[in-house]
Amino acid sequence: MMRSSVLAALVAALVSTVSAQTTTNCQPLNETCPPDLALGTAHTWNLSSSSQLDDTWNITNGVMNYTEDALGFTINKKLDSPTIISTFYIFFGRLEYHVRAAPGHGVISSVVLQSDDLDEVDWEWVGSEETTVQTNFFGKGQTIEGTAKYFNISGSTHDTYHNYTTWWDKDKLQWWVDGQLLRTVTPAEASNSTYDWYPQTPMTIRIGAWPGGDPSGPPGRIEWAGGVIDYNAGPYTMFVSQVSAQDFTTGKEYNYTDHSGTWESINVVAGNSTVSKELNAVHLSAAQRWNNLSSGAKIAIIVSVSAVVGIGALVFLFCCIRQRRIGKREWNAQNNQWTQERTDMMNMQAEWRQKGYVEMK
Ligand SMILES: *[C@@H]1O[C@H](CO)[C@@H](O)[C@H](O)[C@H]1NC(C)=O
Ligand SMILES: *[C@@H]1O[C@H](CO)[C@@H](O)[C@H](O)[C@H]1NC(C)=O
Ligand SMILES: *[C@@H]1O[C@H](CO)[C@@H](O)[C@H](O)[C@H]1NC(C)=O
Ligand SMILES: *[C@@H]1O[C@H](CO)[C@@H](O)[C@H](O)[C@H]1NC(C)=O
Ligand SMILES: *[C@@H]1O[C@H](CO)[C@@H](O)[C@H](O)[C@H]1NC(C)=O
Ligand SMILES: *[C@@H]1O[C@H](CO)[C@@H](O)[C@H](O)[C@H]1NC(C)=O
Ligand SMILES: *[C@@H]1O[C@H](CO)[C@@H](O)[C@H](O)[C@H]1NC(C)=O
Ligand SMILES: *[C@@H]1O[C@H](CO)[C@@H](O)[C@H](O)[C@H]1NC(C)=O
Ligand SMILES: *[C@@H]1O[C@H](CO)[C@@H](O)[C@H](O)[C@H]1NC(C)=O
Repeated sequence: MMRSSVLAALVAALVSTVSAQTTTNCQPLNETCPPDLALGTAHTWNLSSSSQLDDTWNITNGVMNYTEDALGFTINKKLDSPTIISTFYIFFGRLEYHVRAAPGHGVISSVVLQSDDLDEVDWEWVGSEETTVQTNFFGKGQTIEGTAKYFNISGSTHDTYHNYTTWWDKDKLQWWVDGQLLRTVTPAEASNSTYDWYPQTPMTIRIGAWPGGDPSGPPGRIEWAGGVIDYNAGPYTMFVSQVSAQDFTTGKEYNYTDHSGTWESINVVAGNSTVSKELNAVHLSAAQRWNNLSSGAKIAIIVSVSAVVGIGALVFLFCCIRQRRIGKREWNAQNNQWTQERTDMMNMQAEWRQKGYVEMK
């Protein structure tokens, strides 16, 4: 049994490829960009029981806090801003996040959909407002008056996991909490005769906590964030126990064919994406996958693999793969430490928030 698990895990590791890369700094409204890697399927990430993030997420700006029942995003010290970004894109879809927001003045918990041309759909929690959640959207990175809306929800956003669900298709954008519809935005409402600010291009998912109330920030942002953050009173942690993403489009890649930024201009490259293949492979446990093989295949694998390397070498290889995965995580964490200062995304978002805040008043 032990042996077949190791074997199956090895096969799984060899079969699943590390996901390819996409675009971060290419602006499709101005440039011709490489296509975006599609999710192209539906998947639920159960982030409890110290499960590690799979390769479909990048960790930026910090280290993850793996706790018993959820993935934690902790602000321990000045400018900590742990964030994960999906390596895949969805082109319309349904997103479900189970979140406990971080408490504290100046502490922002956020769950953001964002596209390469800066369409954006947000959930945000200001740590000093325990029973409210903010919904927002942006078209092409532009701030329009009145897009940010706050809602009271029943119960604490800090102590209890709530189900925050986003429905996003070409006809409507909706925010739901615990099965209750908070808000609907239609393309008509997000446009006038000149501009179309309706979010409509393929999005990544970005989840993180950040110190919107860092004293070095502009006063408008600090005020929006509920005041100056007291780092000494931390740590402040946002918890996410589950994320589900259903891509409404099936494809391998999403490609901007012009600079219009309209959904009609996005070409769906047919096929199964590396991400969907990887997730489908990861979906079954290694043992299940092994059991699913025909006995002929099992024998063939055992015979051929054993003959070439032997079980000892297999175990060794398995360890190396594991090491590499761990190494990659550590590298990600170190590489992205806050020495690089805020990422462009954080800068931009903060700026919009500040503008949004000012215009909202
Ligand atoms: C596109 O490029 C022009 C000229 O460099 C610049 O002014 C503009 O801000 C860019 N637009 C976007 C959306 O990046
Ligand atoms: C996530 O996994 C944990 C541990 O295996 C389990 O107790 C929990 O019910 C799972 N949650 C969901 C939403 O599937
Ligand atoms: C994920 O990380 C890889 C490796 O650092 C990088 O090339 C890629 O641009 C990142 N993807 C996203 C969506 O940020
Ligand atoms: C939330 O409830 C509080 C207390 O009842 C009220 O003062 C506040 O205006 C409400 N906020 C929103 C956004 O409805
Ligand atoms: C979360 O809310 C959405 C929208 O109401 C609902 O479809 C979904 O079933 C809920 N998830 C759970 C686990 O209850
Ligand atoms: C459309 O909206 C933009 C952004 O709010 C505004 O600047 C512009 O004046 C509006 N145009 C019309 C025709 O209403
Ligand atoms: C994880 O979160 C908990 C709860 O906020 C906190 O006590 C702990 O210090 C955090 N651990 C790390 C490594 O950030
Ligand atoms: C993506 O679209 C661009 C512009 O139309 C085109 O040059 C490129 O070949 C397309 N790439 C793919 C993979 O379809
Ligand atoms: C994608 O995967 C599905 C099921 O896994 C398969 O039926 C289909 O043929 C695949 N499509 C392509 C283009 O490879």
